Amino acid sequence: MILVTGGTGFIGSHTAVELMEAGYEVVIIDDLSNSNEAVLDGIKKITGKKPLFEKFDLCNLKLVDDFFKQYNTIKAIIHFAAKKAVPESIEKPLLYYENNLVSLINLFKLMLKSSIRYFVFSSSCTVYGDADELPVTEKTPMKKANSPYGNTKQISEEIIEDIIAAGHPVKAVSLRYFNPIGAHPSGFIGELPVGIPSNLVPFITQTAFGIHPELMVYGNNYNTPDGTCIRDYIDVVDLSKAHIKAIERLLPGKMKSDFEIFNLGTGKGVSVFEMIHVFEKATNVKLKFRVTGRREGDVEQIWADTSYANKELGWKAETSLEDTLRSAWKWEKYYRNQSK
Ligand code: UD1
Repeated sequence: MILVTGGTGFIGSHTAVELMEAGYEVVIIDDLSNSNEAVLDGIKKITGKKPLFEKFDLCNLKLVDDFFKQYNTIKAIIHFAAKKAVPESIEKPLLYYENNLVSLINLFKLMLKSSIRYFVFSSSCTVYGDADELPVTEKTPMKKANSPYGNTKQISEEIIEDIIAAGHPVKAVSLRYFNPIGAHPSGFIGELPVGIPSNLVPFITQTAFGIHPELMVYGNNYNTPDGTCIRDYIDVVDLSKAHIKAIERLLPGKMKSDFEIFNLGTGKGVSVFEMIHVFEKATNVKLKFRVTGRREGDVEQIWADTSYANKELGWKAETSLEDTLRSAWKWEKYYRNQSK
């Protein structure tokens, strides 16, 4: 059995599907603070089965303890549960430090008392800050994080590293995601931002659906070929599949060291203008957009060197950007029409 914390969230739900389709039994913990229990129905529509689900906050040590006593056949933990909104983390740093770090500490406290030995951590390319070299490899030096959210990811990786260095018999993999986008091709699960989305793709699909009058492009005077920021957008299903590879790498002890880190991206940088054009081409929907000022805290450009993950994890992004944006659009329409 695999524990997926944050399993009703965006990447967690897609990973639960991939795990179940690969034959793993899944139990999800989520406090539903940024997701909806209906996601479990979406997972069932795809896999034919509802995963086990427990609703509680991982910051409550007693509840985590009770959970581990009840579920004693867990072999590995994939830890997604965390707060992830960059602007909110700048406004409410304590909330982010407390939520993201205490939940991790609680999980490890009880994991070390249990027979669970394998841990996969949901990290982010944000740990690199404003990197000096592109593309970034796992060895690219980390700069100061651009936000408290980013700092929680840096600190979390350090906590895991220190636990393992102290000789505790656990193995961990940290997966540094670049920009996860898209949805399951079935259209039954996808990204469900609460309130106005701050990320580009949900804003694009909501604008295409008519929820917003236009998309704001945050700056076209960057030092990039078309002046807009560049990111490495990775399909969420491709990304989820990397978690199965990480579990497989942990389980039979194939690791080179007890804590390994992998970049998960496509290896290709795409600008905001390119995203708009590819979305229009893939969906035949015209997008209204307007260039506005830069958004505070935005990195000019970042994309991954994924050769280490390709070689060592045996994983590679496969879905085209057109297909990914088509899935995101399919999900947006399904979700909006369902909730009418
Ligand atoms: C941010 C974080 C990342 C985090 C992710 C979580 C930074 C540097 N990165 O990603 O660590 O994991 O959120 O969700 O803070 N854009 C527009 N108009 C919009 C929205 C976005 O032009 O309405 C542009 C942004 O300026 C950026 C690109 O689209 O250049 C991608 O933005 P977004 O999807 O928010 O992702 P990041 O900022 O890269």
